[in-house]
Amino acid sequence: GGCRYNASPRGMDANVRRLHMKVNGKNYRTVWLEAATVKMINQPLLPHRFEIFDCPRHTDTADAIRTMVVRGAGAIGTAAGYAMAQAVLEAPGDDPRTYIAAAAETLRRTRPTAQNLFYAIDRVLAAIAGMDNLEQMRERAVAEARKISDDDAEAGRLIGRHGLGLIADGATVLTHCNAGWLAFADWGTALSPIYAAVREGKSVHVLADETRPRSQGARLTAWELMQEGVDVCIIPDNAAGHYMASGRVDLVITGADRIAANGDAANKIGTYEKAVLAHANDVPFYVAAPRSTFDAGCASGESIPIEQRSEDEVLYAYGWTDAGEWGRVRVSPMGARALNPAFDVTPAKFIRGLITEVGIIEPTCEEISRILAMP
Ligand code: MRU
Repeated sequence: GGCRYNASPRGMDANVRRLHMKVNGKNYRTVWLEAATVKMINQPLLPHRFEIFDCPRHTDTADAIRTMVVRGAGAIGTAAGYAMAQAVLEAPGDDPRTYIAAAAETLRRTRPTAQNLFYAIDRVLAAIAGMDNLEQMRERAVAEARKISDDDAEAGRLIGRHGLGLIADGATVLTHCNAGWLAFADWGTALSPIYAAVREGKSVHVLADETRPRSQGARLTAWELMQEGVDVCIIPDNAAGHYMASGRVDLVITGADRIAANGDAANKIGTYEKAVLAHANDVPFYVAAPRSTFDAGCASGESIPIEQRSEDEVLYAYGWTDAGEWGRVRVSPMGARALNPAFDVTPAKFIRGLITEVGIIEPTCEEISRILAMP
C-alpha cells in the first residue's frame, strides 16, 4: 500500500469516474460504429486529453489501427470487424466481392502480431460468404461486427469472474503494458479480475510497468485504473525484479496478443522477462486472454510474427510539455541506432495458467484444443 492516488490526470474533468466505460458521465466502449463511421477513443492523446477519433471509411479505420490510435489486441479486432462492415457498406454494386477482398488485405497488413485482427476479419468474411444480395450482406456484416464487439466485452467480463479468485484481499498484482478496457471493447483481460475484485470490496494494489517505449502502462493502465479508483503505482520496467525478489508481488497478470497451440504467449515486449523473473521468485504468472487470441495455426511461439517498429520510439521520449503541448525529446545521441521489437514470446513453461472466458486452464496443447472446440 502507501501509494494512493486521488487526483485526476491534469486537464481532465475532476469528476471523471467511470462505471464501466463511463467517461464524463457517458458510457463508452473503446471502439464503436455510428451509422457508417467507426468511432474510437483516441489513445495516443490519453491520459491528458479525452477525444473521439472518427473514421468515415474502412481505409481510415485501417490507418487508425496501423498508427495505433486504437491498440490492444481486442480493440484492434473490434476495430477491424467494424472496418470490414464499412467495406461491405462502401462496396460497389457491380463487383462487391473484389472490393471487400481488397479491404480484408489492407486490414491484414496493418499490424502483424495480434491474432484478434485476423480473427475479426475472417469472422465478417465468413458471415457474408455465399450471399449474393448486397443489401443483405450489408446488414449481415454490420450485425456480425457488432456481435464481435459484444462477444469481446462479454469475454472480458467473464475473464474477470474467473480470475477473481486468484486475487486475495490486500494483494499486490503486477501487470505489463495495457490489457484493460482500453485494449478491448470493454472490461479488458489482465485488469478485469482486478476490477471484479475491487468491486467486491477487496483491497488490491497494482504495480504497472511503465512499458517502454510507448508507455502503455504509464499512460493507459495508470489512467484507466485511476478512473476506477484502483490503487496503482507506476514502476520503471526494470524495477519489476526488485519488487518480486523482495516479496512485494503476489501475482503477475498480463494480456496476450497471440497464444500458440502449445500455450506459448506473445505479448508486449518485456513480458517474457517478467515471466522468467516471476518463475525465479515463485510468483504465480498468469496470462488472461479470450479464445479469439488463440491461434491453433501456430504450433509454438516460434511461428508467431513479431512486429518491428520505428527506431524513433526508442531514441525519443514522447509526451506533453508543461506548456500543454505534445512533443518529443531526443534522449539518445544523434546518429545512434536502435532496435524496437514490439512483442516477445513467453514460453508456456513459465505460465501458471491462462485465464479465459471459459475458465482458467493450464497452458497445454490438450487444454487449449479442448477450450477451442467448445461452443
Ligand atoms: O502494441 P499494443 O499497445 O497494441 O500492444 C498491446 C499489448 O501488448 C497488450 O498487452 C496486448 O494487446 C494484450 S491485451 C489486449
